[in-house]
Amino acid sequence: QPIYLKDYRPPAWLVEDVKLTFRLDPTATRVLSRIRFVPNPDAPGAFKLDGEKLKLISAAIDGVPVEPEITDTQLTCKTPDGPFTWEAEVEIDPQGNTTLEGLYMSNGMYCTQCEAEGFRKITYYPDRPDVMAPFSVRIESDLPVLLSNGNPGKRGDAFAEWIDPWPKPAYLFALVAGELVAHEDSFTTAGGKDVDLAIWVREADIGKCAFGMDALKRSMLWDEQVYGREYDLDVFNIVAVDDFNMGAMENKGLNIFNSAAVLASPETATDANFERIESIIAHEYFHNWTGNRITCRDWFQLCLKEGLTVFRDQQFSADERSAAVRRIDDVLALRARQFREDNGPLAHPVRPQSFVEINNFYTATVYEKGAELIRMLKRLVGDNAYYEALELYFARHDGQACTIEDWLAVFEDATGRDLSQFKRWYSQAGTPRVYVTEDWRDGSYTLQFHQETPPTPGQDEKRSLVIPVAVGLLAQNGSELRGTEVLELTSREQSFTFENLPERPVPSILREFSAPVILHRNSDKAERLFLLRHDTDSFNKWEAARGLMKDCLTGMALGENTADEDLLSALADVLRDDTLDPAFRALVLQQPSEDDIAQTLFEANTTPDPTRIHQVSEQFANAFAAHAEGSLASVFTAMKPEGVYAPDAQGAGRRALLNASLTLLSRRDGGERAAEQYDTADNMTLQLGSLSALLRVGSGISQLERFYDQWADDRLVLDKWFSMQVALATPGDAARIATDLAEHPKFDWKNPNRFRAVVGGLASNAAGFHHASGKGYDFVSDWLIRLDPVNPQTTARMSTVFETWRRYDADRQDLMRAALGRIQSSPGLSRDTGEMVARILEG
Ligand code: ARG
Ligand code: ZN
Repeated sequence: QPIYLKDYRPPAWLVEDVKLTFRLDPTATRVLSRIRFVPNPDAPGAFKLDGEKLKLISAAIDGVPVEPEITDTQLTCKTPDGPFTWEAEVEIDPQGNTTLEGLYMSNGMYCTQCEAEGFRKITYYPDRPDVMAPFSVRIESDLPVLLSNGNPGKRGDAFAEWIDPWPKPAYLFALVAGELVAHEDSFTTAGGKDVDLAIWVREADIGKCAFGMDALKRSMLWDEQVYGREYDLDVFNIVAVDDFNMGAMENKGLNIFNSAAVLASPETATDANFERIESIIAHEYFHNWTGNRITCRDWFQLCLKEGLTVFRDQQFSADERSAAVRRIDDVLALRARQFREDNGPLAHPVRPQSFVEINNFYTATVYEKGAELIRMLKRLVGDNAYYEALELYFARHDGQACTIEDWLAVFEDATGRDLSQFKRWYSQAGTPRVYVTEDWRDGSYTLQFHQETPPTPGQDEKRSLVIPVAVGLLAQNGSELRGTEVLELTSREQSFTFENLPERPVPSILREFSAPVILHRNSDKAERLFLLRHDTDSFNKWEAARGLMKDCLTGMALGENTADEDLLSALADVLRDDTLDPAFRALVLQQPSEDDIAQTLFEANTTPDPTRIHQVSEQFANAFAAHAEGSLASVFTAMKPEGVYAPDAQGAGRRALLNASLTLLSRRDGGERAAEQYDTADNMTLQLGSLSALLRVGSGISQLERFYDQWADDRLVLDKWFSMQVALATPGDAARIATDLAEHPKFDWKNPNRFRAVVGGLASNAAGFHHASGKGYDFVSDWLIRLDPVNPQTTARMSTVFETWRRYDADRQDLMRAALGRIQSSPGLSRDTGEMVARILEG
């Protein structure tokens, strides 16, 4: 029962106004709705409301009781031809709602998650994003804190009212009620409006809000300064919730966060956690304009708000921290998740053409590749034209529910550019390959490009794309012959010639990773070592090291070579080079993940052996540790922290290099330094860095126990304790450790963070998950089968751990297919998981 983009029809009825009353009760909440409907003159049709798991108590039209027809998913009713007022009362069971979608309870607190289609579990409504209306809400409950969207209205004994003046689709509705305390602050907009800010948490977490609040204020200022976007309500509330399927949600004026995505203190959160929190706070805040004021016409257009908002949060982090480091991090994540997706059975376009369950399309492709498309567009039109187009977008479409066509039309109108070919990026799945060869004669240097996108499920034929390739040319002495220019590839074969060069240049291609493609170039080791030393583009400098390491590791996995001495020396040079940002040095030293090596081998038409990949990764790390022991020791000492911990980019960079050195040194000193660091660590970055260094060398048993005793009452830290043991276990132990941990009294499997810590932790341990015994597959599939009836969304998402099954040998393929088959045949399988498993098996 897929839904198709081509079948889109506008709503037959529009909503002018919504009034909701909630009488909260854990198992029998009553929701009263009063909705003003008007016929849509452009699309007349029957009156239909969405509704699921609702008990209808009563319904009336213009005050006259009616008896609608009801199915599991819809309500229909005879109505007047003209405008009318709909009133209904329904009963719902928040406590019994374990799906964490709609209105549910988490640790005694009421909260909601409506995107994409959760509002229909709250009351009967046209639950689609192109129906926008102002809402007012009354919450009746004894609980001390009662929140909803918009501005506060009347507050009395056991009730609170909220008025949201901005028309919004139902997916942005939110309600929270509980015993919460606030970390408060305020922000004055450029236009002089005072906004009350609050982060609402359980009392025990009040000390973990300061950083999130600071990130929020910086986000508000940044959006004013860079995009000219001001906040538009008197209050902005954020709530931290322990049980949450995703990272966070941008509900108008009331963002709801997974507590892991907002709560942080130096003692409990790592630098990486702080950085992620900053970017998620920014992301949700930025949605206020790109998502809320301008929303999506239908769910096929999800990338309209998500791609753009991810791009904006990436820009923000680049401005607030180090742009070079952030770009490398973003590309690492893109390759690890999106390239993996785009080159497997789940490949789909940034704007999908059909889906069974929309929740399955909140993917790396829609989000991260979607952001890459905006980045390319900006590069193609230039910065000024980009911001002019954005101004036009906000002016033209404020208050509307839009499409990718609307988005591109704004760019065409602002720049006069024809974007019809560029638009193919939105409809064509798969990662394009770009092959480059070169030619040098009489001072002219020619780069010949060939582009090709391999077939993806359901899309055999691929057309040429517009690919911006940023290129710079270096002289043999390392100076720049030509600064960065953007070459625009538009056809399958294309060449570009640089004239009048004094010498044969060394090309630096795809600088800043200017397009989400796989670049194939026969470049030798000498050229890569040269670029690692001299490239003026920091992304490509890093990329040179990455390419060398990938070549070396894949060669080792195929038994062709050992760890290369020239490479080890070059890495050691970077390690010692204190003119380079420590964060950058840490990134250069970071080895490609085992999954990345498997992906690379598969791309080269060889079958990856996860056990072997793990062995050679260890070998390489040992070889580098031996080669660079002295330098590692001095860098480790030089990076020792001074002063109080601050989660800023500079301090985080030093700690990243410190921990990277420590991890390698532990292979030499048996963990002596790591044990010392563990004992003296006064922040989670150093504590976790030393503990994981110990676990990697097969030690750390006593520290693990102490860690548990210290943090048994802190959920978020305990998630780390669960996940790291599994993620860092040896391949032979991983499934057993996961199985033991799943018996632990604190393994609360209905909590998505805890579930992901253990089950996702095992999947992240490539050699453990893919262990030839099949125990890894069994563990994961058993738990997916168990979780599915309770929480289909998290189950479906986690099922993607099997998306790479075709890469592997016949035995592993059989085992994975069997595991997927067991999931598929489990009785009453959800639509979410059913769709995923079928696509993984068939794609
Ligand atoms: N819009 C949210 C964000 O990007 C994510 C909501 C995802 N919800 C879902 N049901 N898949 O931050
Ligand atoms: Zn988003």
